Amino acid sequence: MKTILITGTNGNVGSFLADYYANNNYCLHLLYHKSSTRLEKLISEHKNVYAKQCDLTSLDCVQKACEELRKESNTSPQLIVHTASKRSTDFSDLENSDSELWYEIIQSNLFSTYKLLKVNLPVLKEQDYGRIVLFGSNVSRIGLKKGTAYAVSKAGIANLSRSVAMELEEYNITINTISPGPIKIDDSHFSEEYREFRKTYYAKELEQIPKKRLAEGDDILHICKFLTSDSNSYISGEEFFVTGGKL
Ligand SMILES: NC(=O)c1ccc[n+]([C@@H]2O[C@H](COP(=O)([O-])OP(=O)(O)OC[C@H]3O[C@@H](n4cnc5c(N)ncnc54)[C@H](OP(=O)(O)O)[C@@H]3O)[C@@H](O)[C@H]2O)c1
Repeated sequence: MKTILITGTNGNVGSFLADYYANNNYCLHLLYHKSSTRLEKLISEHKNVYAKQCDLTSLDCVQKACEELRKESNTSPQLIVHTASKRSTDFSDLENSDSELWYEIIQSNLFSTYKLLKVNLPVLKEQDYGRIVLFGSNVSRIGLKKGTAYAVSKAGIANLSRSVAMELEEYNITINTISPGPIKIDDSHFSEEYREFRKTYYAKELEQIPKKRLAEGDDILHICKFLTSDSNSYISGEEFFVTGGKL
């Protein structure tokens, strides 16, 4: 039985992926941030699911949570799927942006990814095995008007995976980034301002998507399953765009 560490598990994609892996004979190490409501059913129905609260912006917290998960489950992860991310919430052009918020988004998205890898790469190296999947966004290649911090953080994540892939060349470890376009999700819990931004932005995106629909959970799952499987021992450092054919 393989063990998979998943972050952002109270989020849309993280909870969807956790559900798949829990139902397919994996041991799960789950990290969530402020709330774990979406995980309650999963935890109550499966015995190999271990969850910890963790703020990924704190290196100490990442170290402690991952260590506790390994101790409690008596297993170390071979697979890592990092979905956690702070949404784009500045909605301002660069010159009017709030520099504190800009810094916070980079901290939450890019620097947290660095911390997660810093703590867990030695664990994978020790096993000489690992499949790592990071989450970017298609804004890494198209940019995001009034969302520069988010776009930059996502481009940084893709480059981090490219660079780390080279550092891992002598190990049976691959690292790749999935960069989705807009995903069809339940956004009822978001702020009105964010829902409004999403509505306008996504309607415009939809017009440009050749497949004429937003990405769905299964579109993300299929590529993630491949990248976390034994079938992928060769592809590493790549960025996979899940955008329905949109460049
Ligand atoms: N949904 C889309 O349309 C879309 C499009 C392109 C790319 N993506 C990318 O795909 C991934 C998954 O998206 P999603 O829709 O599942 O996002 P989501 O629903 O917003 O979930 C993200 C999760 O990350 C957690 N998180 C945020 N800051 C954290 C921190 N400092 N420490 C630990 N966890 C933290 C959040 O927890 P809290 O809420 O408790 O803070 C949340 O549960 C993300 O990387 C996103 O950028 C999504």
